[in-house]
Amino acid sequence: MRVPSGVPGFDELVEGGLLKDRLYVVSGPPGSGKTTFSSQFITRGAKEEENCLYITMHETEEELVQDMAGYDFGFDRVMASGKVQFLNLLTDSGKRTITQFGTDSGLTNRLVAFLEQQNIDRAVVDSTMLLQHFFDNLSEEITGFLSALKQTDTTIVLISEMTDPSSYADEHYLAHGVVFFHNYLESGGMTRGVQVIKMRGTAIDCDIREVEFSDRGLCVMADRKVEA
Ligand SMILES: Nc1ncnc2c1ncn2[C@@H]1O[C@H](COP(=O)(O)OP(=O)(O)OP(=O)(O)O)[C@@H](O)[C@H]1O
Ligand SMILES: [Mg+2]
Repeated sequence: MRVPSGVPGFDELVEGGLLKDRLYVVSGPPGSGKTTFSSQFITRGAKEEENCLYITMHETEEELVQDMAGYDFGFDRVMASGKVQFLNLLTDSGKRTITQFGTDSGLTNRLVAFLEQQNIDRAVVDSTMLLQHFFDNLSEEITGFLSALKQTDTTIVLISEMTDPSSYADEHYLAHGVVFFHNYLESGGMTRGVQVIKMRGTAIDCDIREVEFSDRGLCVMADRKVEA
C-alpha cells in the first residue's frame, strides 16, 4: 500500500507514493528543503486523519510553524488539530514526554514504545544529528536504532545531514528509501533539485528533477530533469 507524500510532483517519481510503514532517509545540504519536505509529509498525514509525530532538536514548535507560515499547505492548522504530536528532545518537556515510554533508558526502546502505544502512522525524525546526544557510540548504535524503526508500523522520514556528499552513511544503506535534495550552482545561479537514490520495491530512474518553492511549499517538477 502506498501513501501520498504530500509534496506536489514527488509521488510521480515513486509509482504514486511511499510504501507504508517503511523507513525513508532524506539527505541534503543546509537549506535544501529537508525540513520543508518533512513538514508537508506530516501535514498530508494529518489531513488523512493519521496520527503523526514530529521529533526534532532544531527548533520549537512555534519556530517550525513560523518557518512554514509563508506556505499555504496548512501546517499551522494541522499542528493545532491534535493529529500531530511535536517533541523537541533537547527540551525538558520533550525529554519528560519520551521518558514515559519504554522499559529502559535507551532512546531506541522509548521511541519504538511511543510509536506503538500512540498508534503513530507517520513520523519525522529531524535529524540524525539528534542521535549524537543519546548514543555514546553513534556508529555502533545507529544500526540498532534504524533496524528497530524499520520494524514499526509507522511510515518514517529520517532526516540525515550529509557532511560529505560523496560518501554514503549507514542510514543510506539500511533505509528502504533514500531521497537527496540538491542545491547546486549553475550558470544562472543556484538551482534546487531532488533525486530519488533508492526506493525498494519501486521502479525509479535516479535522475535529478527540478524543485521549486511555491505557495504550496516545495514542489517537484517531475518532467524537468536536471542535466548533471
Ligand atoms: N516561501 C518560503 N518560506 C520559507 N522558506 C523559503 C521559502 N521559499 C524558499 N525558502 C527557503 O527554503 C529553505 C528552507 O529549507 P529547509 O528548512 O526545508 O531546509 P533544510 O534542508 O531542512 O535545511 P537545514 O539543513 O538547515 O535544516 C530556506 O533556506 C528558505 O530560505
Ligand atoms: Mg532542516
